[in-house]
This record gives sequence, structure tokens and C-alpha cells, in this order.
Amino acid sequence: MNTQEWSNLLANALTALEAGKDGEARDLLAMASERGSHMAAGLLHTLAGSEVSNAYDQPRAFERFIRGDGNRALYDAVSAELASIYATHRPHSLLDIGAGDGMALAPAVRASDDAINRLDVVEPNTTLLASLMANLPMVEGHETTLEQFVSDLPATAHWDMAQSTFALQSIAPDARKTALRLLAAHVDRLVIVEFDVPDLVAGTPEYRASLAARYEQAASDCGEDAELVAGGFLAPMLLGQLRAAEPSNHEQSKTAWIIELADAGFRVVRVTHVHAYSWANAFLIEAVPVGHSLDQPTN
Ligand SMILES: C[S@@+](CC[C@H](N)C(=O)[O-])C[C@H]1O[C@@H](n2cnc3c(N)ncnc32)[C@H](O)[C@@H]1O
Repeated sequence: MNTQEWSNLLANALTALEAGKDGEARDLLAMASERGSHMAAGLLHTLAGSEVSNAYDQPRAFERFIRGDGNRALYDAVSAELASIYATHRPHSLLDIGAGDGMALAPAVRASDDAINRLDVVEPNTTLLASLMANLPMVEGHETTLEQFVSDLPATAHWDMAQSTFALQSIAPDARKTALRLLAAHVDRLVIVEFDVPDLVAGTPEYRASLAARYEQAASDCGEDAELVAGGFLAPMLLGQLRAAEPSNHEQSKTAWIIELADAGFRVVRVTHVHAYSWANAFLIEAVPVGHSLDQPTN
């Protein structure tokens, strides 16, 4: 059976899952899994257990995912873009939001020629934060969410630059906008890297077909780790996206990110393509708070 047929079975299973018809979904997933779909196997595994509630509850699966073959080129491109921004703007203080284990941050900082002398990271996952801090001892780690972190900041807190790679998508849009609005008062510049996912309406057949195809591709790209990654990271994330109770992924199109940053009080000064990834193109947005001294509109 070819990938297209798996995707159709998966997409139908997603329809059943969204409708709460778990029995029907399991039958479809079992058929797709027997024919070799990693995501179908991962979803069956996740549905069978109750211990995993969040995509980052099994950090090993996430760490294997981002170190898979398909991801290396993506991360190299992200770190190179960040390093080039550090070289241009020479931030002395940097805040990384949702830094994970530092896969994007660490190589960029190491290439930065010691320009950064204060580095804070906000990362709610204990294991990922510990791994990052072992790897980058200069880091001041804050084991919390962005929402909590910014609401606790003293008025004087300030960073020359804040950045976030593939992490803002983890925060629900309303909470994210509030947090970004608060953050704007504390940074000179914000750089985000996210995926430009197709602008499809959640709940439509096109949306589910797109999810099915992209998740299956992401799992396949992990080669021999496909099963671990599909069951431990991708399936919880996909279920979170489908089931409104507690979604763990709120990705959106590049245009929607630009609009959201503007709504949160930032002026976008640069948008650039970073890498053509199987999931979707990765892009970078550089923005400055509106009214900030760096907020000089270009002609
Ligand atoms: C896809 S990972 C990206 C990690 C890292 N930035 C990278 O590029 O590899 C998303 C990260 O966001 C973190 N995260 C989830 N919810 C968050 C929140 N509310 N505030 C800050 N970080 C969050 C997760 O723990 C995870 O480390």
C-alpha cells in the first residue's frame, strides 16, 4: 500500500477520533498500522495508555525526533540564522522562550563570539531544561511557562533580545497574545522561528488530510526511531490538536503569526525563509516593540 492510501486511512481515523468514535478510529488505525503506518501505530499506543497527556511528557521521544536525519538540516539552518542575527545586533542579554534542550540555541550561542554575557531560558520541562543547562553552563534556567514568567517580571527586567524557536506554537493563542504583549515591555527585539503551516480550517476534511500526511511524513523521517517518536511525541501532539480538551499544538500560517505579533504590540521588521522542511517551510520573523527606539519604520 502506498503512502497516499495510509494517509487516507489515517485521515478517516482522525475524523472518527475528532467525533469521539474511538472504537471506529481504532479499527481504521489497526488497518493502517498493519500496512506500515508509523503514526497509526503511535496513535494506537497512545490511545491504549493513559500515562501520556502531553507531547513533552516523554522527552526522549522529542529529543530523538529533533535529532532525526530530517531535522538536522532544519536545526543547522535555524542555528545559523540565529548566529547571524547575534553577529548583526550583538545582543548582550538574551532570553530564549521554550528552549527545549537547546538544540537550536546552543550552536548559535557557541558561534556568537562571546557577545552574549547574560542568557536566560524559560523552559517548563524539567528534563529538557536539565539537559540544556548541562550543555550550556552559562544559562540561567527558569523552569516555568512563558505566561507565568512574564506575569512575574519586575518592571525593570530587560533583555536586548528574546527568541523562540518552534515553541510559541505550544501556547494557546489567547494566553500567547497576552504573554507576548507583556513581553514587549521587556525586550528590544523578538525573533521567532515557526512553521508556515497551510491555512486550513480546523475540523475540515482538508485539514485532517493535511495533518495525516504531514505527521506520517514526520514519523517516517525518523527512520529506525519512527516508532518511538510516533508513539511518544507525535501521537500525543496530534491527539492534542484534534481533541479540543487540551490541545498541545497551536501552529498557524506565517501570515497569521505576523498579524498576531502586530496585535501583541510588535512591528515586524524582517521575515525570512529558513528551511524547506517536510512538515512545512520554516520561517523567521524579527520584530521590535512598537514605540521602542529601534522601531524606525523603513521607507
Ligand atoms: C518543539 S519544542 C522546541 C524546543 C526548542 N526551542 C527547539 O527549537 O528545539 C517546544 C518547547 O516549548 C516548551 N513549552 C511548552 N509550553 C510552553 C510554555 N507555555 N511556555 C514556554 N515553553 C513552553 C516545551 O517544553 C518544548 O521544550
